[in-house]
Amino acid sequence: MTQDEMKEEVAKAALAYVIEGSIVGVGTGSTANKFIDALATIKDKIKGTVASSEVTAERLRGHGIPVFELNDALSQVNKLSVYIDGADEFDPQKNLTKGGGGALTREKIVAAGSEKFVCIVDESKQVDFLGAFPLPIEVIPMAETLVMSIANNLGGKAQVREGFTTDNGNIIIDVTGLTIKNARQLEDDLNEVPGIVTNGIFSHQGADVILMATPTGVVTFD
Ligand code: 5RP
Repeated sequence: MTQDEMKEEVAKAALAYVIEGSIVGVGTGSTANKFIDALATIKDKIKGTVASSEVTAERLRGHGIPVFELNDALSQVNKLSVYIDGADEFDPQKNLTKGGGGALTREKIVAAGSEKFVCIVDESKQVDFLGAFPLPIEVIPMAETLVMSIANNLGGKAQVREGFTTDNGNIIIDVTGLTIKNARQLEDDLNEVPGIVTNGIFSHQGADVILMATPTGVVTFD
Protein backbone atom coordinates (compact mmCIF):
# COMPACT_ATOMS: atom_id res chain seq x y z
CA MET A 1 0.00 0.00 0.00
CA THR A 2 1.41 3.42 -0.93
CA GLN A 3 1.58 6.34 1.51
CA ASP A 4 -1.12 8.05 -0.52
CA GLU A 5 -3.41 5.01 -0.21
CA MET A 6 -2.74 4.90 3.56
CA LYS A 7 -3.77 8.56 3.82
CA GLU A 8 -6.98 7.74 1.96
CA GLU A 9 -7.73 4.84 4.30
CA VAL A 10 -7.20 6.83 7.48
CA ALA A 11 -9.24 9.74 6.09
CA LYS A 12 -12.16 7.41 5.44
CA ALA A 13 -11.81 5.92 8.95
CA ALA A 14 -12.22 9.43 10.41
CA LEU A 15 -15.74 9.65 8.97
CA ALA A 16 -16.83 7.45 11.89
CA TYR A 17 -16.16 10.45 14.20
CA VAL A 18 -18.37 12.86 12.23
CA ILE A 19 -21.59 13.51 14.09
CA GLU A 20 -24.69 13.89 11.94
CA GLY A 21 -26.14 17.41 11.75
CA SER A 22 -23.06 19.00 13.34
CA ILE A 23 -20.39 21.50 12.30
CA VAL A 24 -17.03 19.84 11.73
CA GLY A 25 -13.60 21.50 12.09
CA VAL A 26 -11.32 20.62 9.20
CA GLY A 27 -7.53 20.76 9.12
CA THR A 28 -4.93 21.46 6.46
CA GLY A 29 -2.48 19.33 4.52
CA SER A 30 -2.41 16.32 2.22
CA THR A 31 -4.06 13.98 4.74
CA ALA A 32 -6.71 16.58 5.62
CA ASN A 33 -7.34 16.94 1.88
CA LYS A 34 -8.14 13.22 1.70
CA PHE A 35 -10.53 13.73 4.60
CA ILE A 36 -12.24 16.59 2.76
CA ASP A 37 -12.72 14.33 -0.26
CA ALA A 38 -14.17 11.61 1.99
CA LEU A 39 -16.39 14.14 3.80
CA ALA A 40 -17.85 15.17 0.44
CA THR A 41 -19.44 11.71 0.19
CA ILE A 42 -21.54 12.44 3.31
CA LYS A 43 -21.87 16.22 2.94
CA ASP A 44 -25.67 16.15 3.15
CA LYS A 45 -25.42 14.62 6.64
CA ILE A 46 -23.54 17.57 8.22
CA LYS A 47 -24.53 21.18 8.80
CA GLY A 48 -21.18 22.48 7.60
CA THR A 49 -17.54 23.00 8.46
CA VAL A 50 -15.01 25.45 9.84
CA ALA A 51 -11.73 25.51 7.91
CA SER A 52 -8.27 25.91 9.41
CA SER A 53 -6.88 27.66 6.31
CA GLU A 54 -7.90 29.46 3.15
CA VAL A 55 -6.75 26.52 1.04
CA THR A 56 -8.92 24.11 3.02
CA ALA A 57 -11.92 26.46 2.76
CA GLU A 58 -11.45 26.55 -0.99
CA ARG A 59 -11.32 22.75 -1.28
CA LEU A 60 -14.40 22.36 0.93
CA ARG A 61 -16.36 24.90 -1.13
CA GLY A 62 -15.19 23.16 -4.31
CA HIS A 63 -17.03 20.07 -3.06
CA GLY A 64 -20.15 22.14 -2.25
CA ILE A 65 -19.59 21.77 1.50
CA PRO A 66 -20.72 24.84 3.53
CA VAL A 67 -17.88 26.69 5.32
CA PHE A 68 -18.65 28.87 8.36
CA GLU A 69 -16.43 31.42 10.07
CA LEU A 70 -15.49 30.07 13.51
CA ASN A 71 -17.12 33.06 15.23
CA ASP A 72 -20.41 32.40 13.42
CA ALA A 73 -20.26 28.67 14.17
CA LEU A 74 -19.56 29.28 17.87
CA SER A 75 -22.52 31.64 18.09
CA GLN A 76 -24.71 28.65 17.12
CA VAL A 77 -23.05 25.92 19.17
CA ASN A 78 -20.91 25.81 22.29
CA LYS A 79 -18.14 23.94 20.48
CA LEU A 80 -17.64 22.23 17.14
CA SER A 81 -18.33 18.51 17.48
CA VAL A 82 -14.96 17.37 16.22
CA TYR A 83 -11.76 18.68 14.64
CA ILE A 84 -10.08 16.39 12.14
CA ASP A 85 -6.55 17.13 10.97
CA GLY A 86 -3.18 15.60 10.19
CA ALA A 87 0.14 16.12 11.98
CA ASP A 88 3.83 16.14 11.21
CA GLU A 89 4.73 13.99 14.24
CA PHE A 90 3.05 12.43 17.26
CA ASP A 91 4.60 11.03 20.45
CA PRO A 92 3.29 8.37 22.89
CA GLN A 93 1.49 11.06 24.95
CA LYS A 94 -0.41 12.19 21.80
CA ASN A 95 1.53 15.47 21.72
CA LEU A 96 1.86 16.66 18.15
CA THR A 97 4.07 18.79 15.97
CA LYS A 98 2.00 20.63 13.40
CA GLY A 99 2.48 23.48 10.97
CA GLY A 100 4.35 21.83 8.12
CA GLY A 101 1.77 23.52 5.90
CA GLY A 102 2.04 26.76 7.86
CA ALA A 103 -1.55 26.73 9.12
CA LEU A 104 -0.66 26.07 12.79
CA THR A 105 -2.32 29.15 14.31
CA ARG A 106 -5.75 28.60 12.79
CA GLU A 107 -5.37 24.87 13.39
CA LYS A 108 -4.75 25.46 17.10
CA ILE A 109 -7.70 27.86 17.30
CA VAL A 110 -10.13 25.49 15.60
CA ALA A 111 -8.86 22.55 17.68
CA ALA A 112 -9.46 24.62 20.84
CA GLY A 113 -12.99 25.36 19.67
CA SER A 114 -13.82 21.68 19.21
CA GLU A 115 -15.04 18.99 21.60
CA LYS A 116 -12.64 16.39 20.25
CA PHE A 117 -9.47 16.42 18.13
CA VAL A 118 -9.13 13.37 15.91
CA CYS A 119 -5.68 13.30 14.33
CA ILE A 120 -5.20 11.32 11.11
CA VAL A 121 -1.69 10.20 10.20
CA ASP A 122 0.23 7.45 8.51
CA GLU A 123 2.81 5.44 10.44
CA SER A 124 5.72 7.65 9.27
CA LYS A 125 4.54 10.29 11.78
CA GLN A 126 5.06 8.15 14.91
CA VAL A 127 8.08 9.17 17.04
CA ASP A 128 9.36 8.65 20.60
CA PHE A 129 10.13 12.37 21.00
CA LEU A 130 8.97 15.32 18.91
CA GLY A 131 11.70 17.29 17.16
CA ALA A 132 12.94 15.26 14.19
CA PHE A 133 10.50 17.25 12.07
CA PRO A 134 11.39 20.98 12.09
CA LEU A 135 9.32 22.83 14.69
CA PRO A 136 7.33 25.62 12.99
CA ILE A 137 6.81 28.91 14.81
CA GLU A 138 4.51 31.64 13.46
CA VAL A 139 6.06 35.05 14.12
CA ILE A 140 4.96 38.67 13.61
CA PRO A 141 7.44 39.98 10.99
CA MET A 142 8.91 42.79 13.16
CA ALA A 143 9.99 40.17 15.74
CA GLU A 144 11.94 38.02 13.24
CA THR A 145 15.44 38.82 14.53
CA LEU A 146 14.41 38.61 18.18
CA VAL A 147 12.72 35.25 17.74
CA MET A 148 15.52 33.87 15.53
CA SER A 149 18.01 34.46 18.34
CA ILE A 150 15.73 32.88 20.95
CA ALA A 151 14.96 29.93 18.66
CA ASN A 152 18.67 29.34 17.97
CA ASN A 153 19.21 29.13 21.74
CA LEU A 154 16.84 26.16 21.96
CA GLY A 155 19.69 23.94 20.79
CA GLY A 156 18.65 23.50 17.19
CA LYS A 157 19.01 25.63 14.09
CA ALA A 158 16.38 28.22 13.22
CA GLN A 159 15.56 29.22 9.67
CA VAL A 160 12.96 31.54 8.16
CA ARG A 161 10.67 29.67 5.75
CA GLU A 162 11.55 31.37 2.47
CA GLY A 163 8.79 32.90 0.35
CA PHE A 164 6.03 31.91 2.75
CA THR A 165 3.43 34.15 4.40
CA THR A 166 0.73 32.68 6.64
CA ASP A 167 -3.00 33.34 6.18
CA ASN A 168 -2.56 35.82 9.04
CA GLY A 169 0.18 37.80 7.25
CA ASN A 170 3.04 36.48 9.38
CA ILE A 171 6.29 34.55 8.78
CA ILE A 172 7.24 31.03 9.83
CA ILE A 173 10.53 30.18 11.54
CA ASP A 174 11.35 26.45 11.43
CA VAL A 175 13.67 25.01 14.08
CA THR A 176 15.52 21.82 13.12
CA GLY A 177 17.55 19.44 15.24
CA LEU A 178 15.53 19.44 18.47
CA THR A 179 14.78 16.49 20.74
CA ILE A 180 11.72 17.63 22.66
CA LYS A 181 11.58 15.70 25.94
CA ASN A 182 9.00 17.97 27.61
CA ALA A 183 6.60 19.10 24.92
CA ARG A 184 4.21 20.89 27.30
CA GLN A 185 7.02 22.95 28.85
CA LEU A 186 8.49 24.00 25.51
CA GLU A 187 5.04 24.92 24.20
CA ASP A 188 4.50 27.09 27.28
CA ASP A 189 7.97 28.68 27.11
CA LEU A 190 7.53 29.64 23.45
CA ASN A 191 4.07 31.01 24.16
CA GLU A 192 5.72 33.53 26.50
CA VAL A 193 7.96 35.07 23.81
CA PRO A 194 6.70 38.43 22.49
CA GLY A 195 6.25 38.27 18.73
CA ILE A 196 5.54 34.53 18.62
CA VAL A 197 1.93 34.08 17.59
CA THR A 198 1.84 30.30 17.86
CA ASN A 199 4.28 27.43 18.05
CA GLY A 200 3.72 24.09 16.36
CA ILE A 201 3.71 22.00 19.54
CA PHE A 202 0.18 20.79 20.19
CA SER A 203 0.34 19.56 23.76
CA HIS A 204 -2.43 21.66 25.34
CA GLN A 205 -4.40 21.00 22.16
CA GLY A 206 -2.99 17.49 21.70
CA ALA A 207 -5.01 14.82 19.96
CA ASP A 208 -7.83 13.06 21.83
CA VAL A 209 -7.70 10.23 19.31
CA ILE A 210 -5.00 9.33 16.82
CA LEU A 211 -5.89 7.19 13.83
CA MET A 212 -2.69 5.83 12.30
CA ALA A 213 -2.66 4.16 8.91
CA THR A 214 -0.40 1.15 8.45
CA PRO A 215 -0.10 -1.18 5.44
CA THR A 216 -2.28 -3.69 7.30
CA GLY A 217 -5.00 -1.35 8.58
CA VAL A 218 -5.80 1.65 10.74
CA VAL A 219 -4.62 1.59 14.37
CA THR A 220 -6.46 3.72 16.97
CA PHE A 221 -4.74 5.41 19.93
CA ASP A 222 -7.27 6.89 22.37
C1 5RP B 1 -0.44 21.93 8.27
C2 5RP B 1 -0.29 20.80 9.20
C3 5RP B 1 -0.50 19.42 8.65
O1 5RP B 1 -1.47 18.77 9.40
C4 5RP B 1 0.77 18.66 8.73
O2 5RP B 1 1.80 19.40 8.06
C5 5RP B 1 0.66 17.28 8.10
O3 5RP B 1 0.47 17.40 6.73
P1 5RP B 1 0.34 16.14 5.79
O4 5RP B 1 -0.96 15.50 6.07
O5 5RP B 1 0.43 16.75 4.39
O6 5RP B 1 1.52 15.24 6.06
O7 5RP B 1 -0.03 20.94 10.37
O8 5RP B 1 -0.12 23.16 8.88
